Amino acid sequence: MEHNRLISPERLEQEDYPESSIRPLCLQDYIGQDKVKENIRIFISAALERKESLDHVLLSGPPGLGKTTLAAIVANEIGKPIRKTSGPAIERPGDLAAILTNLEPGEVLFIDEIHRLNRTVEEIMYPAMEDYVIDIVIGKGPAARTLRIDLPPFTLIGATTRPGLLSSPLRDRFGINCRLDYYTEEDLCQIILRAAGILNIDIEPQGAVEIARRSRGTPRVANRLLRRVRDYAMVKADDCINQKVAEKALQMLEIDEWGLDMVDRMILEAIIYKFNGGPVGLETLAAAVSEEQDTLTDVYEPYLLKMGLIQKTPRGRIATELAYRHLGLRYPRQMESNGLFSLSDE
Ligand code: ADE
Repeated sequence: MEHNRLISPERLEQEDYPESSIRPLCLQDYIGQDKVKENIRIFISAALERKESLDHVLLSGPPGLGKTTLAAIVANEIGKPIRKTSGPAIERPGDLAAILTNLEPGEVLFIDEIHRLNRTVEEIMYPAMEDYVIDIVIGKGPAARTLRIDLPPFTLIGATTRPGLLSSPLRDRFGINCRLDYYTEEDLCQIILRAAGILNIDIEPQGAVEIARRSRGTPRVANRLLRRVRDYAMVKADDCINQKVAEKALQMLEIDEWGLDMVDRMILEAIIYKFNGGPVGLETLAAAVSEEQDTLTDVYEPYLLKMGLIQKTPRGRIATELAYRHLGLRYPRQMESNGLFSLSDE
């Protein structure tokens, strides 16, 4: 189903331009993710001091948390250019060979969705990462020969929403492994105020708090909501975003106090009404809400899990008591002795 989701953490094409103006360019301006920043700062300093290229970095975490931004910051901090591509864009080994042989010494190669590299491409990557060489097979059958090509030293930064899907030989070749987590409300608030400053948006701190609360821990969502609330403030409220204006705008956009939108609620309602609270398998649930399975696992589920609204069990997803309460429903309590359900008497 096509949803133009306001709270989708996935990048929308038309967003590239305005986002680029508010993207932090150095670690000092990057808000939150303190542990990751601290580690990266140390590894960069050490590499610069030794005059070596930075070890390969794997950035993992849900979409919209700033993996691409962080990769650009790393390149900036080590003073090298960055070349960006993605796992699905590199279809053949020759595509990767062309990219690798054109890198400048020390350059950063950023591969988004690295878990989607195909196996034959991935195999070229192993010696490239380890020894800065690639082995190309020329010809076929008995006449086939392997040609070894030296590469300049480079730093691979891989980004993934699904670190579990990376093969272990690939995962093991990253010397630096950073997991980005959802942002705190305070960090998001700062991110919103910083973006508002750059975009010349008049906002009160309480207005920023209201937007932060509903941004599902994700800067990309926060920045998008900021723009929509600004539109509302412009038309309905003298251009200034205060708490009331933010609240009304977000209500109008049907984003609730926990940052859930219609699709999130549809998922919870499907588990509860169509599958008696679960467990329900991924494939069945995806079909019930007309979403791709990957979108469910990468985009919706991580946040619903984090908020404690669903749980994953070996037999599928279940809606928690909190999910029932959040939707204003009574929770059917499970009778432990016989597995029957009864309505709780609260
Ligand atoms: N914009 C998006 N992510 C950000 C972050 N972590 N810090 C500052 N601005 C941001």
